[in-house]
Amino acid sequence: MATALPCPVPSALRTHAEQLIRGRRAIRAFRPDPVPRETLRAVFSLAGAAPSNSNTQPWHVEVVSGAARDRLSADLRAAHAAGRMNPDFPYDDGMYDAVHQKRRSAAGAAMYGALGIGRDDDAARAAYDVESLDFYGAPHVALLFLPSTAEVRMAADVGMYGQTLLLALTAYGIASCPQGLLSFYADTVRRSLGVAEDRKLLLGVSFGYADPSAPVNGISIPRAELSETTRFSD
Ligand SMILES: Cc1cc2nc3c(=O)[nH]c(=O)nc-3n(C[C@H](O)[C@H](O)[C@H](O)COP(=O)(O)O)c2cc1C
Repeated sequence: MATALPCPVPSALRTHAEQLIRGRRAIRAFRPDPVPRETLRAVFSLAGAAPSNSNTQPWHVEVVSGAARDRLSADLRAAHAAGRMNPDFPYDDGMYDAVHQKRRSAAGAAMYGALGIGRDDDAARAAYDVESLDFYGAPHVALLFLPSTAEVRMAADVGMYGQTLLLALTAYGIASCPQGLLSFYADTVRRSLGVAEDRKLLLGVSFGYADPSAPVNGISIPRAELSETTRFSD
């Protein structure tokens, strides 16, 4: 339902926006209890309020829980073991320049540090990747698809949807982790869920209630200074 904001906007909105946007973080350990069905409907309805180019709303979203979630996790791990990866959108580490690589390494160091996994412990890092194919233990995962005709511009629409979803989840006290890794197994995901071949997989989002006792959930990944990313001209 569309609700116009009052004018002037109450200052409480800024306080809540700060809490909501800065309070969200990627969570990588979950409690098993599922989110109630009516809460799922409310969250995904809110996420659908995301903007898109000419209001095309080109996303198709599969919300996976229960036995279907367990089957998908098993299928993903089998695909991983067999080396069956086929991302619909190609991935190349080379797309990151030195600055991006530096931020990426710092985020990785914080995460693996909290897990007690050393910088050069490739085996432990690989084992953690496999664990992430079980959605870090989350009871739900959402898979975000685009039509097969999608070009790079349409990924902006689904990116908008993705962040709106993360914030909607946060507002309902539900933790999440966006997982690009899941999109590396596009055929497996389609087959496991019975999704048509003509949908392209961009991103997965694992979600549920956070396990507050897990050290990996205690990390906070800093952002670049405003001046590093944003220029104001007048
Ligand atoms: C498009 C996208 C893909 C991501 N893929 C993964 C992933 O495959 N595995 C993972 O653990 N985290 C993944 N993340 C989470 C990021 O690592 C995380 O958002 C980033 O380090 C900033 O941390 P924060 O979200 O806690 O602020 C992804 C985030 C985005 C937006």
